[in-house]
Amino acid sequence: MTMNIMKKSLLTLALFSTSQLSQAGEVEVLHWWTSGGEAKSVSVLKEMMEKDGHSWKDFAVAGGGGESAMTVLKTRAVSGNPPAAAQMKGHNIQEWADLGFLTNLDDVAKQGNWDGILPKVVADTAKYEGHYVAVPVNVHRVNWLWANKAIFDKEGLKVPSSWDEFFKVGDKLKADGIIPLAHGGQPWQDATLFEAIALEKLGNEDYNKAFVELDQDVLSGDKMVEAFTTFKKVRDYIDSNSPGRDWNVATSMVINGQAAMQVMGDWAKGEFSAANKQPGTDYTCSPTPGTSNSFTFNVDSFAFFQIKDKENQKAQQDLAKTILSKPFQEVFNLNKGSIPVRLDMDMSKFDQCALDSMEAFKATADTGGLVPSMAHGMSTTSYVQGAMFDVITNFFNDNDADPKTAAEKLAKAVKAAQ
Ligand code: GAL
Repeated sequence: MTMNIMKKSLLTLALFSTSQLSQAGEVEVLHWWTSGGEAKSVSVLKEMMEKDGHSWKDFAVAGGGGESAMTVLKTRAVSGNPPAAAQMKGHNIQEWADLGFLTNLDDVAKQGNWDGILPKVVADTAKYEGHYVAVPVNVHRVNWLWANKAIFDKEGLKVPSSWDEFFKVGDKLKADGIIPLAHGGQPWQDATLFEAIALEKLGNEDYNKAFVELDQDVLSGDKMVEAFTTFKKVRDYIDSNSPGRDWNVATSMVINGQAAMQVMGDWAKGEFSAANKQPGTDYTCSPTPGTSNSFTFNVDSFAFFQIKDKENQKAQQDLAKTILSKPFQEVFNLNKGSIPVRLDMDMSKFDQCALDSMEAFKATADTGGLVPSMAHGMSTTSYVQGAMFDVITNFFNDNDADPKTAAEKLAKAVKAAQ
C-alpha cells in the first residue's frame, strides 16, 4: 500500500467513526483569520454552529491576504479531501468553480432570499454561471488611513488628505522621532499601499481600466508612472524593520504610539477594537489621501466545496444559512471591522468608521467610485494579481528602480499572465 492510499484509508476510517458517534454534521472551515480581531470574529461562527449541534473543525492557515491558505487549499482539494468551506475572494471563487470543485447553494439561497438582501455587485462575485457557490460574509473597505489620535493632537497636526500633505506631516513626525507609516513589507501589503496611491493618481475610471480591464496603455501610462514615483517616496516614511512584518504587528505600532499611521483595510479596526480602542478618541479612520470619493471593496466569502458525507452536507447548508443571518452579520462585522454584507441591517451598534463605510459604499455604488481591490483578489485573476504583486514588490525593494520602467514592466507582466 502506498503512503497516500494508506493515509486515505485511515482518514476514511476516522471520518466513519466520527460520523457514527455524532448525529449532527461536522464542518471543516479553512480561513486565514488568525490575528486578535480576526480570531475573535471567526469564533462567533464556530459558536453558532456548535449551538446548532454541529461540530466545527478549524482549519486556520496563518498569513494575511491568504496566499498560504490558498496554497494549502490546493493540496487538500487535489488529494480529494477539500474542507466543507474555504475563505476565498472574487476571482478565485470563479476559478475553483470552473474546475468543478464547488457545490450548488441555490436552494439555501432561495430560502434566504439572497438575491433580495445582497447588493448585486456582491452577489455576482458569489455566483458561477448564475448559481450560488459561495456565501459572502462582509464588505471591507481597503482605502483607509488609520491614525493614532494622541500623536496627531500632541504634534498639532492634521491627518493628511493628500500625498503632499502626507509628506509634510511625515517630515515633522520623523523629525520628532515618530515613525510616520507603519507598514509590513510583504507583497500583499505592498500592493495594498500601492493600489491606494494608484487610485488617487488614476481616478476611478482609469483605476478600473488598469486593474479590471487590464488596459496596456493605462498600465504603462504617465499616471501609473506617477503612482510608482509617489509609492517610492512613501518608502522613506517607513522604518527599516518593515520587511516581513505582519499587518497586525504594524497596526499594533499605531495602537501603541510607535507609529502615527497605517494604510490598511478595515480589518485593522478589528485590532483597535480588540485592544479596546475607540474611534474618534484613540484613533481615526479616514480615506487614504485623495480617495474620499472612492471605495476599494474587498468582500470575504466562503466557497463551498462538494463533500460526500450526508450529515456533513446538512451542516454545510446550515453554515451557509448562518453566515447570512442577521445575528451573525452583526456580531461578526462588529468584531471584524467590516460592514455587514446585507443592506437591511440595523446599524445602531456600529461605530462611526463603519457608518462612514456604509455610507460611502452606497454612495460610490451610484457614482462609479465603488472599485474592486486588486491587492485582495477582487479585480482580476490570481495569475494576473500575482504578476502585479511581483512587479510592485520588486520595485518597492529596489533602491535604484525607475518608475517609468516599472510601469512598463507592469504592463508586460500583466500581458504575459493573461
Ligand atoms: C484580507 C481579508 C481580510 C483580512 C486580511 C488580513 O485578504 O480579506 O478579511 O483578514 O486579509 O488577514
